[in-house]
Amino acid sequence: MVEKRENTVPAAFVTGWPIKHSRSPIIHRHWLKQNGLAGTYDAVAVSEDDFASFIAGLKDGSRGFCGGNVTIPHKEIAFRLSDRPDDLAQELGAANTLWLQDGELHATNTDGYGFAANLDACHAGWDKVDRAVILGAGGASRAVIQAVRDRGVNEIHVVNRTVSRAEELADRFGQKIHAHGLPALAEVMAGAGLFVNTTSLGMDGQESATIDFSSMKAGALVTDIVYVPLETPILKQASEQGYATADGLGMLLHQAIPGFEKWFGHRPVVDAALRQLIIQDIQAA
Ligand code: ATR
Repeated sequence: MVEKRENTVPAAFVTGWPIKHSRSPIIHRHWLKQNGLAGTYDAVAVSEDDFASFIAGLKDGSRGFCGGNVTIPHKEIAFRLSDRPDDLAQELGAANTLWLQDGELHATNTDGYGFAANLDACHAGWDKVDRAVILGAGGASRAVIQAVRDRGVNEIHVVNRTVSRAEELADRFGQKIHAHGLPALAEVMAGAGLFVNTTSLGMDGQESATIDFSSMKAGALVTDIVYVPLETPILKQASEQGYATADGLGMLLHQAIPGFEKWFGHRPVVDAALRQLIIQDIQAA
């Protein structure tokens, strides 16, 4: 747990630019209330120009925070400005969770944890597959590649419109990762036990793609990290073709657990009430 000064209420933040649409305050405030804990969690808008001074104020205590979350566009610079990034953050070159401990700023990246913990909760055994296909090679795909690899999946095919970006990730994450352009998708799907969409395809208001899942293994799982809409066009197609699906909301909820535990000293639980709160917020937007 993060050290606290006597009689101070732990204060955590989420920062990004823009930040007002972040759902993290809903998640952490729900857990604070549910567990009867004193603490605060607030969204703080910080521009790229102001980020280094924000981190300086975090480190010297003048901001009054014990830690917080970092989102787009600050994940890379947060990693670079931290004193003690863990192995996960170092490999990704990006951090989303920061905390002060023994006077130093620690950093990790919980996106991969969130991805895996969500699937553990809703589709146990998801990682017992020989071959996985990950669509997309942007920022979001990195943590998914790391998590799938670290669970021991032997053959991980990263398929991306721009093949050079997939190749960069294969170089970064090791020999189990194979890079392809979109035309190879049909071929690598054959016999796969897991498909993950990490692209913005099918995100609210954006175009989607027609994907043929039929050559995947019987019982294969299709998941999407997009969660607006909850049932993305990709998940709908997979479900219509008879495959199990997992939506992206669970990853968002589970990735918040390690940070909350660091700042507030209690390991929270993702439950139906929390999920419903976020669904309501999506519907109200
Ligand atoms: P993020 O950090 O959310 O992953 P990103 O780095 O912009 O965002 O990456 C977006 C991903 O969606 C990329 O894999 C992108 O493919 P390119 O690398 O070729 O740009 C993918 N993507 C976005 N729109 C797409 C489309 N219409 N068809 C196929 N892939 C698309």
